[in-house]
Amino acid sequence: RSLLASHLHGDELLVVSNREPWTHERIGDALLVRQPASGLVTALEPVLQACSGTWIAHGSGNADRECVDAADHLMLPPGQQDYRLRRLWLSEEEVRGYYDGLSNEGIWALCHLAHVRPVFREADWQHYRQVNQRFADAVIAEARSHNPVVLVQDYQLALVPALIRQRLPEATILCFWHIPWPTPEAFGICPWRNEILQGLLGSTILGFQTRHHQQNFLATVERFLEARLETERSSVFHAGRETLVDSYPISIAWPATAPDSARQRQLGRETLGITAGQKLILGVDRFDYTKGIEEKFIAFERLLEKHPEWIGRLCLLQLAAPTRSSLADYAALSERVARRAMQINNRFGRPGYTPVTLLVEHRDQAAVRALYGAADVCVVSSLHDGMNLVCKEFAATRDDEQGVLVLSSFAGAARELGEALSINPYHTESFADTLQQALCMHPAEQRERMSSLRRQIHDANVYLWAGRMLEDAARWRLQARMHERL
Ligand code: F6P
Repeated sequence: RSLLASHLHGDELLVVSNREPWTHERIGDALLVRQPASGLVTALEPVLQACSGTWIAHGSGNADRECVDAADHLMLPPGQQDYRLRRLWLSEEEVRGYYDGLSNEGIWALCHLAHVRPVFREADWQHYRQVNQRFADAVIAEARSHNPVVLVQDYQLALVPALIRQRLPEATILCFWHIPWPTPEAFGICPWRNEILQGLLGSTILGFQTRHHQQNFLATVERFLEARLETERSSVFHAGRETLVDSYPISIAWPATAPDSARQRQLGRETLGITAGQKLILGVDRFDYTKGIEEKFIAFERLLEKHPEWIGRLCLLQLAAPTRSSLADYAALSERVARRAMQINNRFGRPGYTPVTLLVEHRDQAAVRALYGAADVCVVSSLHDGMNLVCKEFAATRDDEQGVLVLSSFAGAARELGEALSINPYHTESFADTLQQALCMHPAEQRERMSSLRRQIHDANVYLWAGRMLEDAARWRLQARMHERL
């Protein structure tokens, strides 16, 4: 953490994302400050704390406007501000077209293999273009120098790198794509594929979560654009400039926070109503169809069928943070999942025993940590996921080196976390068997696996992620300068 700022070599840092790190919500007379459920925020916030700079994002809390100054900067008392937050206001119509429409019904569905058909509406695309221009304008307005380092985040802002490049040609633009990148065939159905590719290629460096997604991107460029690929440098030459394309697996801050004591963990279990002889399986996800929550419930039901000895002794607690709830696919998912939980409880529950608890709500970081500490098994069953940081947070929290991580092989994190028990969430039978293996795992094996997971997350933490991108950018700029002099 302490070295991270030095990778900037004194240059100004700007971050731009759709989601903001903090929202302000007014509920009655109370003003709540909340951190949204978002892997992007979990990863980026500690980086900004370490480096300072300005974060530009959509102001989405109902009391956000109450908490900014005339320049839309969040007002915090002196000493409480590690970085500046500039809020950008979007109209309801813009949110519907740019965020709900093109970003989530279009690109999100396009890039995740979850068998949800992407929707492409011309009007949404027009809003997407307009809002991307507004984010780029905000970056230009906030920049105090002609060559800042700008971190552009994710699929909601694919056009922003090229838009910034037009106005700040000397900026170092690092764009990170947090979600998977599909094959050229899959991406090719997007009517605006070329515009999106050209927008991203305004970046100095374009980062993906895994080598596989990076390769898919390069193959997509090769298929659809007039561009030259330099395989050795892993770069693309397009429209007279070069963009480095590489993989940078994202992570979390380390150390996570102060360790929990055994007593705190025990208290956590008691608060949840877990009795001495019972075990707890935990899920923590945004309530998104890519997360495989329904598949988790189905596998849990199968486990109780195959191993009735668990009935009365095993609980599944699923925390599902509401997300994108105005969209039909999300509303349908939450109905299906709630119905499934009810069915399982009707079938296996009895007075004093509720097998499945589905909490559809937002919990703050401390409360989520308490859940991680209380769990015997944490299950991440994504059908497809760029990285997934819940699995990393669970392991980072478990300084007691106990607890078992069950992880979908379709999450980017599976490439790094080989000591987790791997599942295919589509295959109920083997998923249920893996849950059984996790529940029966000897504490010594839990320790061995958990300590290895923790070592991996400690070594490849989010400061390394940001540091690698910033260092690659610094090297790239040096080479560019030397090249100009020759
Ligand atoms: O990591 C993917 C991502 O879509 C981020 O861009 C986003 O902040 C997060 O998941 C949560 O989604 P949303 O911001 O739409 O609630």
